[in-house]
Amino acid sequence: MKNTETVFVCGSCGSRAPKWLGRCPSCGEFGTFEEETREEKAAEESVNAPLGGALQSLNDVVVGAEDRILSGIGELDRVLGGGLVPGSVVLVGGDPGIGKSTLMLQALAALQKKGLDTLYVSGEESAQQLKMRSMRLGAHDLPILILTETYLKEIRRAVEERRPSAVVVDSVQTMYTEGVASAPGSLTQVREVAARLVHLSKRTGISFFLVGHVTKEGAIAGPRVLEHMVDTVLYFEGDRGHAFRVLRAVKNRFGSTNEIGVFEMKDSGLSEVSNPSQLLLEERPLDVSGSVVVPCMEGTRPILLELQALAAPSSLGVPRRVTIGVDSARVSLLVAVMERKAGIQLAGHDLFINVAGGIKTDEPALDLGIVGAIASSAMDRTIPSDTVLFGEVGLSGEIRGVSQVDIRLREAEKMGFRKCFLPASSLGGGTGSKEMSLVGVRTLSEALKLLLG
Ligand code: TYD
Ligand code: MG
Repeated sequence: MKNTETVFVCGSCGSRAPKWLGRCPSCGEFGTFEEETREEKAAEESVNAPLGGALQSLNDVVVGAEDRILSGIGELDRVLGGGLVPGSVVLVGGDPGIGKSTLMLQALAALQKKGLDTLYVSGEESAQQLKMRSMRLGAHDLPILILTETYLKEIRRAVEERRPSAVVVDSVQTMYTEGVASAPGSLTQVREVAARLVHLSKRTGISFFLVGHVTKEGAIAGPRVLEHMVDTVLYFEGDRGHAFRVLRAVKNRFGSTNEIGVFEMKDSGLSEVSNPSQLLLEERPLDVSGSVVVPCMEGTRPILLELQALAAPSSLGVPRRVTIGVDSARVSLLVAVMERKAGIQLAGHDLFINVAGGIKTDEPALDLGIVGAIASSAMDRTIPSDTVLFGEVGLSGEIRGVSQVDIRLREAEKMGFRKCFLPASSLGGGTGSKEMSLVGVRTLSEALKLLLG
């Protein structure tokens, strides 16, 4: 008799059931159950890494200075929490074509240049394709080890034989391992492959980057199941039509999760952007209606974003609300508040909102900017181009305070802005700005009156 076990696993939360279910009883998602068949032998092998778990008392545990590996790519090191931790597993997710492979090859090239041995395992591209990419990046004469392989056993053999310091597996969805009946890319395979790679990493102290494609819903295939197995999860985001790329940490066992790294995709690969505000505001049209600048926080970094709104008379019964880069539900909410609390009628208008540069953000501080941009376009009045604004808008039309006011103001001042509308409650208390005039606002209608007259 064959020792196999069949269970059904939810692709969203990982819960198990003995039979197929249309809706997951634990996370409520529909159609996420997938059949999983595996042999018992394989199940034993994929246990989590042994951590040398001797019983000890917490006050006896000695913490040495973590010896992190700095790649020299500052934006990447920052997102990792100050460099790569040896023996850690980093999942790098993102849409196809966004630049994951490019980033990974550049990271390995940087490490290789520092004298560390690296290995690039590709299940998607041939050695020639990798060579061609490395030529664009100027990394073609580095002795980075290349392995085009999708069978995990071969990868493990290569890793154990050569013992590199860092390994890229591109992508985890193309890899397969024995003992799992389902096809590469299926939830079961991806999870099993990842579990074994994590095990290998912990056992050898080698750092792994696992590249993962993102599904249509915006999650890495086998999403949460994979995310909780690895140490760090990074998302590489951006709009393919724009050169701007943002690397964001969504989970990090070795650092903060709200750091971002900013890159620009050029002909010769990704280059670091140390002053994103400047790049983002470069193409800003001055003194036009519907355009505002908002100092946003991305982790510990301030970034000035240009928000654009266009309100155009609609010929549709239900006017369109199209948003790019901001949450459309949030915009609907703000539109309702504008109509009810500030008397601006938008029911007959199609609304289009865009964050310039292909950036995505969901910071509440953006609210006042969204409202300002929509009102500016709908009333066809401009907001002076030396003015920035930020603040959260509440359902009764009140403007609520936000955090890190000083950092936002400093960034705006540095970029040459001279006036800022901000929540009245955020005024005072250290918000000393020499060259900016600060206008505290309490309600939405007050803010719009002062902004647009
Ligand atoms: P790639 O790293 O292959 O994306 P992913 O692995 O996430 O699918 O990058 C794909 C895009 O990047 C491709 O459209 C070409 C572009 N690119 C550049 O613009 N400059 C470069 O130097 C390189 C290597 C790629
Ligand atoms: Mg790729």
